Order: sequence, then C-alpha cells, then structure tokens
Amino acid sequence: MTSTSLPTPNAATVEDTAMIERIFPHATLLSGAELDQELLAAPPENGAAVRPWVSFNFISSIDGAATMDGLSGKLGNPWDLRVFSLLRQTADVILVGAATIRAEGYGGELLSAPAQRWRHDHWLPEHPPLAIVSGSLNLDPDLEVFTQAPVRPLILTLESALDVAPRDRVATLAEVAELVTVGKDALDPALVISELAARNYKRIHSEGGPTLLGTFAAAGKVDELNLTVSPLLVGGPAGRIAHGPQASAAASAMSLTRILKADSMLFLRYVHQPN
Ligand SMILES: NC(=O)c1ccc[n+]([C@@H]2O[C@H](COP(=O)([O-])OP(=O)(O)OC[C@H]3O[C@@H](n4cnc5c(N)ncnc54)[C@H](OP(=O)(O)O)[C@@H]3O)[C@@H](O)[C@H]2O)c1
Repeated sequence: MTSTSLPTPNAATVEDTAMIERIFPHATLLSGAELDQELLAAPPENGAAVRPWVSFNFISSIDGAATMDGLSGKLGNPWDLRVFSLLRQTADVILVGAATIRAEGYGGELLSAPAQRWRHDHWLPEHPPLAIVSGSLNLDPDLEVFTQAPVRPLILTLESALDVAPRDRVATLAEVAELVTVGKDALDPALVISELAARNYKRIHSEGGPTLLGTFAAAGKVDELNLTVSPLLVGGPAGRIAHGPQASAAASAMSLTRILKADSMLFLRYVHQPN
C-alpha cells in the first residue's frame, strides 16, 4: 500500500516483548508474541470448518467516530496495527467495500513476509484474495489494488451494475478481477457468503466499511465483530461504524468474548450466538 492510512504490515510495530493486558477472559498480561499465538489460534466458536464465518474488524473513537479527517488510520496505534494484521492473517478472503478501497488505498501485499510464512506452514495460500463490494462498478482498473495484487481480486457486484456500467469499463475490470454478481438491484449478503464459500473461502474477514457492515448487520449475517475503541473524543461529522437505509428487524445480540487493553485502547471481540 502506498497512499493509505490504514494499518499496513510495514507500519510502526510493537516489540514482541511489549505487554498488553488481557482483561477477559482470565485477566493476565500477554507479550506481543503471546498475543500472536492467542489470536492466531482458531477460537472455539469459530465454525468456519463447518460453515462460512463472517467476521468484521473496526476501530471507533470513544464518541463513536469511525474516521478522523475521513480515514480510520488516525484513530489507531501500533497495538491496533498488530491486532488488525493478526485478524487478517487467518482469513480465506478479505471483504472490503469499494469506498474503503477508494479512501484508504489498498494495494500490494496485505500480509508481511512472516505472516505469509505462517500461512504457508498452516496449509493456507500465502495471500488471501480481496473481495471488493461495488454496487456501481465505479472502480478504476489502474488502482494498485488491481495492478499490484499478489492474487486476482474478486469484485462482488449487482446485475444492474453490469447492465448500466460502460461496457469497456466492465471489460477492463474483468481483465484485472473476477466479477461475481451478488444480487439483482440490491446486495444480498447471503449470496455474498455462498459465492465466497463456493470458492472455498469460508473464513470471510471484512475490514469494512460502515455501509458494508450496515448491510450485513441488517441481514443478521455478522458472526463476529472485533472493535477497537480508541481513547479519542473526535466530535464533528464522522459517521459511526455501521450505517444504511435499513436497520435489522431485530437487532442482533452479541456476546462479549474477549477484552484486551493496551494503554487506554480497548480491543473487544463480540460473537453472535444464534438462539
Ligand atoms: N473505522 C474503521 O474501522 C473503518 C473501516 C473501514 C472504512 N472506514 C472508513 O469508512 C469510510 C467509507 O465508508 P463507506 O460506508 O462508504 O464504506 P464501504 O462500506 O467500504 O463502501 C461503500 C461502497 O461499497 C459498495 N457497497 C457497500 N455495501 C453495499 C451494498 N449494500 N450495496 C451496494 N454496494 C455496496 C458501494 O460501492 P460503489 O460506490 O462502488 O457502488 C458503496 O458505495 C472511509 O472514510 C473509510 O476510511 C472506517
């Protein structure tokens, strides 16, 4: 990545020996290396071996802002980078909305060399592909996310977008990515999941943004939410981590399964437990 403020594998990191508190479950201090082990181990409620599992990762200020100056990077710190990168490391596919791609400038390798080696040693392809959600196909094929991709990305789009978008743009995008339709006029999260699972991508890890999370939340298709709470009061017009035209008919209840704390930054993990 060149022009992004998203955490990247090459940004400042915390030392393996630096300590972070695990507050819940079982309060203890963990070194960075122990944190790696813990987050890379499959959590017991993760059913990805049996069925697709959809996790999201977000950062928010304490007053609920999902961005500062239009990007998420200024909310984070090196511990957030470490957690962000670890959550990415076990994914079969990384799902991201087009506006996040356009704003944050994804591109190039998404994982560090040690993370790629770890995946190789755990029988995973070294690079998880990106699956980019776009309802309009308003994506520039010359973006680094396409030209520098270590593996061919997918673009998840709508039948209506294929009808409306300029033919030459559709053709050029089809050269740099696999185009998959996941709805006629509206995105169907169940279809997103089944299309990805059909390609054997069962650990579906999403890095946002808010429109995408809002759509999945409204459809009750979020299995896991990792939320970093950044100790900043931002104010201003920033939106929250999920939004959309429609709330879910019944809000999804989530159970808190982990709390980590580094300085005043909290790392919360919630899991949806169906009745
Ligand atoms: N705090 C965080 O952790 C975090 C994480 C990620 C992003 N962000 C921030 O969030 C902002 C972007 O917000 P956003 O909500 O616009 O991001 P987004 O969800 O990444 O992108 C929205 C775009 O993705 C496509 N899309 C997503 N859901 C869709 C749906 N249900 N139906 C059809 N198309 C869909 C559309 O693409 P087309 O426009 O191509 O049709 C839509 O315009 C950026 O400022 C970014 O920095 C923050």
